[in-house]
Amino acid sequence: MNIRNITKKDIEPIARIAQEALNPIYGIGTLEEDIKIAAKMLEMCEPKYSFLAEEDGQVLGFLFARIQKEPYDEFPYGMALAVSPAQWNKGIATHLINKTIETLKQDSWDTFTFHALPENKRALKIYENMGFKTKKLFLSKSI
Ligand SMILES: CC(C)(COP(=O)(O)OP(=O)(O)OC[C@H]1O[C@@H](n2cnc3c(N)ncnc32)[C@H](O)[C@@H]1OP(=O)(O)O)[C@@H](O)C(=O)NCCC(=O)NCCS
Repeated sequence: MNIRNITKKDIEPIARIAQEALNPIYGIGTLEEDIKIAAKMLEMCEPKYSFLAEEDGQVLGFLFARIQKEPYDEFPYGMALAVSPAQWNKGIATHLINKTIETLKQDSWDTFTFHALPENKRALKIYENMGFKTKKLFLSKSI
């Protein structure tokens, strides 16, 4: 397996993985919509912190990351992470996250943050296994 930075030619394979892996969680979109979203992600991300995993030229998973700029804060943020379901449980997401962390550390960043839905138990378990801690709490009620 090879881990490398994401380029424009990877947009369609990334959108295909999003169709399989992300749509069941975030809602069903068409491939065309996911291609547009993947292209937007590539524009919005910090390319040097965004990686994909591939084997024999086939994209297996991806992680888009950026420096999130808030009014009083800026921090490295994982915008999107997904692995093709056929490739789950092989450590691919772990490799991608570690590669981004390694690159962030070279630039002296000392945190990396993801957002996850509470019902996304798989994702939460991986983040927790890797030492991520829940940090921000949003309080919300139906109105
Ligand atoms: C969440 C997701 C990215 C995880 O991808 P993955 O590549 O399967 O994750 P990993 O293989 O790195 O880790 C999964 C499990 O494999 C284990 N693992 C790590 N390295 C491994 C290896 N070399 N061999 C086998 N298993 C390994 C991990 O410990 C983890 O085990 P556990 O959680 O059962 O204890 C993937 O399920 C996915 O795309 N889900 C849908 C999209 C999504 O939820 N994205 C995140 C949004 S916040």
